[in-house]
Amino acid sequence: MSDNKEILNKAIDIINQRRNRAKAVNNLHFEEVNKKIPEIGEINSQLAKTGLEILNVIKGGENVSQKMLEMREKNFQAQQMVKRLLVQNGYPEDYLQIKYTCEKCADTGFVEHDRCSCLKNLTAQLSAKSMNAGSQIQLCSFENFQLSYCQGRTPEETAECREIMSKILQYCKRYAADFSLSSHNILMFGKTGLGKTHLSLSIANEVLRNGFNVLYDSALNYLRKIEKEHFGRDSGNVDTLEMLLSADLLILDDLGSEYDTPFYISTMYNIINTRMSRGLPTIISTNLNHEGIQKKYDDRIVSRLFAAYDCLEFVGTDIRLIKRKNGEI
Ligand SMILES: Nc1ncnc2c1ncn2[C@@H]1O[C@H](COP(=O)(O)OP(=O)(O)OP(=O)(O)O)[C@@H](O)[C@H]1O
Ligand SMILES: [Mg+2]
Ligand SMILES: [Zn+2]
Repeated sequence: MSDNKEILNKAIDIINQRRNRAKAVNNLHFEEVNKKIPEIGEINSQLAKTGLEILNVIKGGENVSQKMLEMREKNFQAQQMVKRLLVQNGYPEDYLQIKYTCEKCADTGFVEHDRCSCLKNLTAQLSAKSMNAGSQIQLCSFENFQLSYCQGRTPEETAECREIMSKILQYCKRYAADFSLSSHNILMFGKTGLGKTHLSLSIANEVLRNGFNVLYDSALNYLRKIEKEHFGRDSGNVDTLEMLLSADLLILDDLGSEYDTPFYISTMYNIINTRMSRGLPTIISTNLNHEGIQKKYDDRIVSRLFAAYDCLEFVGTDIRLIKRKNGEI
């Protein structure tokens, strides 16, 4: 999926399918009930006749409003009767009502002329899916993060390292389970191969499953995309920057691996600052330490990162090396 229009059409298709499914289920319920409870079948055909009568009244030019009132009353009585019969026969009283996924728009995607929130959410989720498609998101979970991989140079260091990483794991699990739009920002830092990407993807997986719109990629990939769009070299009409600024959760992996161009630095500042002022949570991972970050970015970014982010410092020995030695990768 390369542009917004395609994503919008896909979302509308899904909503249409929901509506058709809701109607088909409703038809089956009617057939079933008409067969099992003939009184209801009778009432339903009476109601259908009432509809025709109304048309005739309108055509005949009789006292329409008086007649309409009478019919509405009849209709109401009939519906009450249907509910009673349903319950007496072991069905819920709303068994014959259409059950839409979204009651607000009756699965049309629009309320009056505006996009309904269900359509907006679906579009955001599809965009996130298409943007995250290239990542290794499926491979990482809290379940396959094992503390036994965390190692130091001595048994004492190993014990200390496992204790620290165990706290970080607990923090991340809790963060993912309790995620909301007012969750904190996180800065994960530490040397290469210590599980920063693994844990940030584990958070992404769970938060996505809970229905939030999560964007995950390396800072460098995002900056390249934004640069291409900004300088008009990308013909699609995706606005990556706007998506990053408004995602429920943005995960910027490997900050610091990009070159220091003025465009990249000002874009990064814009992303960090705008999300902060909108109160939207961001997770950043980097293998620069405090000093390294300070050297690379100007003070405006550094002071924001350290003041407004929960800092998690990863420790241990490169797990890629350990896995390679064990022949696991
Ligand atoms: N505790 C762990 N249990 C199991 N696998 C792990 C653990 N920590 C890391 N890994 C695996 O080790 C590899 C390296 O981890 P990861 O990519 O998360 O490191 P990183 O800290 O992001 O490194 P870099 O700074 O180079 O990006 C990945 O394949 C990851 O799935
Ligand atoms: Mg990484
Ligand atoms: Zn809706």
